[in-house]
Amino acid sequence: MAHCLQPLLLLLLLQLLLRSPSSAARNRCVDAAEACTADAQCQRLRTEYVGHCLGRTASGDCPRARCRRALRRFFARGSPALTHALLFCSCVDPVCAERRRQTFVPACAFSGPGPAPPSCLGPLDACEHSGVCRPRLLAFQASCAPAPSAPDGCPPDQASRCLRAYAGLVGTTLTPNYVDNASARVAPWCDCGASGNRREECEAFRELFTGNRCLDGAIQAFDSGQSPVLQDHPDSHQHSLLQVSSADGPLKGCSLLSMLPVLALQPLL
Ligand SMILES: *[C@@H]1O[C@H](CO)[C@@H](O)[C@H](O)[C@H]1NC(C)=O
Repeated sequence: MAHCLQPLLLLLLLQLLLRSPSSAARNRCVDAAEACTADAQCQRLRTEYVGHCLGRTASGDCPRARCRRALRRFFARGSPALTHALLFCSCVDPVCAERRRQTFVPACAFSGPGPAPPSCLGPLDACEHSGVCRPRLLAFQASCAPAPSAPDGCPPDQASRCLRAYAGLVGTTLTPNYVDNASARVAPWCDCGASGNRREECEAFRELFTGNRCLDGAIQAFDSGQSPVLQDHPDSHQHSLLQVSSADGPLKGCSLLSMLPVLALQPLL
C-alpha cells in the first residue's frame, strides 16, 4: 500500500473531523452517540444496523429489508435511554441536525428506491397488511394523535408513550425521519400528490407526523428529561472514533484504505 500515513497524522486527522465547527454549543447528538458507544449492547446493535444499512446486495441495491430489521432490533433491544437519545437529541444548528438526520442511514432505511417519494397510500396500505407494521402504526395513532377531548389536546400522559411508539415505526415500511437539517420536522418518505380520491385519508395520515403538536411537544420535552444519561460523558468528542478505529486494530496498519470505512461511519457515530 503506497499511502502510508503516520499513525499520529491519522489520529490528528480524525480529531479534526470530530470537532464540529460549533463546538461552543454542545452537540447533543454527538453526546448521544458517545453514550451509545460506551454501552456494549448499544454499540453492538448500532454496528449491526450500520453494517446492514451501508451494505449492498448482489444486484447493487441497499438491503432495505435487512437494514430495517436491524433498526427494529436496535430499538427493541437497546436501552431506550440510549436509543431514544440518538433519535430525539435536540439541535440548535444544522451540523447537529444533519447528523441527527443521518443517524439511522436514511438513504437505505427511509428513502428510495426511486428518486421521488411515493404517495403515502402505498406504504400505508403495505403497513396495514403487515403484522410487523400494523400494530406499531395503531400504537402510534393511539399515543401521538391529538385528542381534542383531553385538557391539553393530547392523549393523557402521552409524551413518553408517543416517543416509544414513534421509535417503534423506525424500521417499518413507514419509517419516519427528520425531513431536513433546518428543523425538527419528521415524516415518512412519501407525499399526498398522487392520492386521487383518497387524498383526505392520505393527508390525515401525513398530519400524524407533520404539524402534529402532540408529537412535536413530546420530542421537545424529551430533551429536558435526557441529561442524566449523557452527562456521564463530558469529554466525549475525542474518543468515539478512536474506539471504533482501534476495533480494527491499532492504527499502525499503514493502509489509508483501511481507514475509509471509519470515515464513512463518522456521521453515524
Ligand atoms: C443541510 O442540508 C442542505 C440541503 O440538503 C445541505 O446542502 C447542507 O449541506 C446541509 N448542512 C449541513 C451542515 O450538513
